[in-house]
Amino acid sequence: MKIITIANNKGGVGKTMQCYQLVCHLANQGYKVLALDLDSQANLSHTLGVDVNRTLIPEWLIGDVNSEEVLLKASGDYDFYQNVSVIASSRHLASLSKLLILSESEVRKNAGRKERLLRLRLSQLSEKFDYVVIDTPPMLGDELIMSLVASHMILIPTQAQDYSIDGLEELMDTFEIIKQSENPNLDFAIIPSMVNLRRKIERVRLEELAEQFRITPPIRNLVEMQESVSTKKPIFMMGKNSKGKMDYGSLWDSLNL
Ligand SMILES: Nc1ncnc2c1ncn2[C@@H]1O[C@H](COP(=O)(O)OP(=O)(O)O)[C@@H](O)[C@H]1O
Ligand SMILES: [Mg+2]
Repeated sequence: MKIITIANNKGGVGKTMQCYQLVCHLANQGYKVLALDLDSQANLSHTLGVDVNRTLIPEWLIGDVNSEEVLLKASGDYDFYQNVSVIASSRHLASLSKLLILSESEVRKNAGRKERLLRLRLSQLSEKFDYVVIDTPPMLGDELIMSLVASHMILIPTQAQDYSIDGLEELMDTFEIIKQSENPNLDFAIIPSMVNLRRKIERVRLEELAEQFRITPPIRNLVEMQESVSTKKPIFMMGKNSKGKMDYGSLWDSLNL
């Protein structure tokens, strides 16, 4: 079972979009995929056809409820959705940090440290799934740290704008700390996201980014990407002239998933 986290501590950079496209891409190849939504905005859950009133993720993490109670089936118009399970989010996920403090001794007994809780819970699902894809909130909080500790790979969608790239340093510092302490095999890829190559400033920033890091082929800013999410039809199902399909195809080919 391979665990992939999509992360960027900045909002609106295309994380949830990438999660949705990756989950569908893998499921369509016949893999059993778990989509874990750790963002209290629950956009990924919603796009995968799962809306819950109250998420049980905090209770699942601390061990008060078991995985059968949090695992739901995705629903959508296409057959591949049958390969997708969802652990859904809701705004109640915001209480996670509080619950972790309240249950500190229980957490220590089970996982040693709270950062390791998600890794522990996912390891109990390793027979069930080929992939876990995790969507994370736009901040460097418990959800993101736990995901970094649990994952094999972190995909970082990044917009080619000054403030977005500056924020990247904070995330990369955290990545290094986790790699040196809890998860030495953690790998990452930086994915230029929502790129408009007609804008000179974006081309310049992209070149600068490529000097600092190894970057993947970019995903362009395209109206059809928004339509893909609003109609719940993944981009790989679009016609052969679809630019989004081309971009995502090259991206998945470039990554060793
Ligand atoms: N490649 C793209 N082209 C155009 N719009 C995009 C693209 N990727 C994402 N979006 C749109 O941008 C907005 C933010 O994307 P989202 O995936 O929700 O970001 P995040 O999860 O990082 O907050 C959404 O409305 C989404 O549909
Ligand atoms: Mg999101």
